[in-house]
Amino acid sequence: MDLFAKLEASRGPLGELAGRSHGVFAYPTLEGDIANRMTYRGRRCVVWSLNNYLGLANHPEIRRVDAESSARYGLAAPMGSRMMSGETGEHALLERELAEYARKPDALFLNYGYQGMASLVDALMSRHDWVLYDAHSHACIIDGVRLQTGRHFAFAHNDVDHLEALLRRVEERRAPSGAVLVVTEGVFGMSGEQGRLTEIAALKERHGFRLLVDDAHGFGIMGPGGGGTGEEQSVQDGIDLYFGTFAKAGASIGAFVAGPQGVIDHLRYTLRSQIFSKGLPLPIVSGNRKRLELIRTRPELRRAMWRIAHALQSALRERGFDLGATTTPITPVFLEAAPERAARFLTVLRDQFGIFCSPVVYPVVPRGVLMLRLIPTCEHTLEDVAETAAAFSRAAEELGGPAELAVAS
Ligand SMILES: Cc1ncc(COP(=O)(O)O)c(C=O)c1O
Repeated sequence: MDLFAKLEASRGPLGELAGRSHGVFAYPTLEGDIANRMTYRGRRCVVWSLNNYLGLANHPEIRRVDAESSARYGLAAPMGSRMMSGETGEHALLERELAEYARKPDALFLNYGYQGMASLVDALMSRHDWVLYDAHSHACIIDGVRLQTGRHFAFAHNDVDHLEALLRRVEERRAPSGAVLVVTEGVFGMSGEQGRLTEIAALKERHGFRLLVDDAHGFGIMGPGGGGTGEEQSVQDGIDLYFGTFAKAGASIGAFVAGPQGVIDHLRYTLRSQIFSKGLPLPIVSGNRKRLELIRTRPELRRAMWRIAHALQSALRERGFDLGATTTPITPVFLEAAPERAARFLTVLRDQFGIFCSPVVYPVVPRGVLMLRLIPTCEHTLEDVAETAAAFSRAAEELGGPAELAVAS
């Protein structure tokens, strides 16, 4: 069969949406300044889909630094990969600041979280090693597991007993030179649950392994100082390698991994996604330094975001919606709805009530379940929350009432 004919016939589970919903449920265009209200298909909507927790996307101090460093450096520098010809003082400064904030001896700045994490899992493992990872891990962890040459097991989501059973199995089978890496997330980006980091780190006393935590959604958000989920759970020292991205609370791009100096140095020379790729432009690096400064020094942004998160979650729960087990700002709403009903619910929300949130469908959630994921930011208002909760109820009533729509997750 011709390759292209085969590809055109099947676009994969997400591509099934393409025919009917391109530009609507997939690849919608939001216009205007990044804010709590934006324009979608000509209508002003309350937008709950942006990873802009702390409102940094359009923060005047950030915009000023982004503009000044773009004017100063342009987009060409640094030239080449950092290892070859693209190293700069700004990169080194950012790494020092990140290490300090993550409370680790050293840090490596990465081009994009996805590439960085996939490559990181690969670079850490040899064919004698074992990686155990949470079954609900983000695609970048799964793809890192696929790339690496060691052996691997997935443990049931957040199931520490299952992880321990697997650790015992690995101990029976591994060669003396084989090492073990456990990978999980600080905040699971779809469900809003926290990884059970304290309990997983406690297993290190009985089973020798190293712990890598992807805290993409926790960095800047969780913990009293925004230091992340390790800080929230008072277990940052038990995390051997801490990974964060600027793409969420930072509203930018680029990521980092922080840990012991020797390991970070090893990664500087082995992380293929970085060695064989041009470094991120300098305005991004300078802009990220400014973002980190605001994350560190403006707790009021975090407080404002949490106020909205708590108000939103209470309002939706009071109206009978099922938010699963979130303990973070991420607000999933689980609805039982076949594709037609799911599409209708979203259309009513957007077109009648001006509420824009993103649908999450199979294969991320089981078939027949529609998950709407709402991301609160410090820029939302209590009026946005009230309007949204009322719109959810009204849209559910149009489709037969919340009882019929809601499911236990
Ligand atoms: C848990 C997790 N890890 C990594 C990433 C990738 O981050 P980036 O957008 O910096 O590539 C994401 C983003 O969706 C994420 O949710």
